Amino acid sequence: MDALDQILAQAPARIAAAEDLGALSAIEAELTGKKSVLAETRRGLGGLPAEERPVVGAMVHDVQRRLQEAIDEQRRKLELAAEDQLLRRDRVDVTLPGARPPVGLHHLLSQTVDEVVDIFTGLGYRVASGPEVELGWYNFDALNTPPTHPSRLESDTLYVDYGEPSDEMLLRTHTSPMQARYMEQHEAPVYVVVPGRTFRADALDATHSPVFYQIEGLAVDEDITFGDLKGTLAHFAREFFGADRTIRLLPHFFPFTEPSAEMHVSCFACDGSGCRVCSGSGWIELMGCGMVDPNVFEAVGYDSTRLSGFAFGMGAERIAMVRHGINHIKHFYENDLRVLGQFT
Ligand code: DAH
Repeated sequence: MDALDQILAQAPARIAAAEDLGALSAIEAELTGKKSVLAETRRGLGGLPAEERPVVGAMVHDVQRRLQEAIDEQRRKLELAAEDQLLRRDRVDVTLPGARPPVGLHHLLSQTVDEVVDIFTGLGYRVASGPEVELGWYNFDALNTPPTHPSRLESDTLYVDYGEPSDEMLLRTHTSPMQARYMEQHEAPVYVVVPGRTFRADALDATHSPVFYQIEGLAVDEDITFGDLKGTLAHFAREFFGADRTIRLLPHFFPFTEPSAEMHVSCFACDGSGCRVCSGSGWIELMGCGMVDPNVFEAVGYDSTRLSGFAFGMGAERIAMVRHGINHIKHFYENDLRVLGQFT
């Protein structure tokens, strides 16, 4: 009983000194485990004289209870402390600035094409797209371009398969073949724009790429005049480059239009007085256009005595380069986010 008294006297200090749950378990084993003085005393109870047994037994019980209480108390404290520490380690500072997820944007070419298409759908035009691998018939013959035309040479056009001129397969050199395809599939009147990818046997330089984008336009109806062409393109120029723009049409040649013209817009940077953007001329060339040649109507089965129309075709890279002052076409294809990220 003296030994138990002594243990009871020392226990609180020892238990309170346990710094973690492991140390506490070790102390618990020592004080209440199978080899403890307490357990030994309990085992020895049977050998005691009958009158001592209840007294010692009660004391064993009491010591066991008090030790266990002190141990449980300390365990609760240590568990709370451990949890507290974990919370402190994992603490989130909600006042820190958040990580900004990168937000994507449409490629400048897509933005440009979308904007041009929007301007024409605003005038009631439909939007169509066609095959990038095209037949010689649609790319050339139906567009009044004879087999001997120099643009059909392999130095200009990328061929996929050879054959009779109109059966040959090639990568379309412009979006104009969709004029013929669209008229074949639709009755007049036709008001349509066709954005798409085009291909030529060109080496990459500041303004040329073997793969590039065009946007084609076609309007066919009764009584369409050159004045409609000019008014439509002037509207486009003002929507795309600003309300103060004017346009001019210079005589040109394309096989599929007659007359044909090169459309120029007054320089948006200097308002026509001459600057670096327009190379001093005050004008910027934007696209080819003209009145649909009657031979094209014949090729698609349209009545050229009843119908007339105009067509135009522009390079998407070109108009974007002009507008944004981009000095090399490669910037569209290199996917350098320092460049593309500027066009939000
Ligand atoms: N297809 C021509 C080119 O790639 C551009 C063009 C000129 C399209 C006149 C037209 C047009 O529709 O009428 O250079």
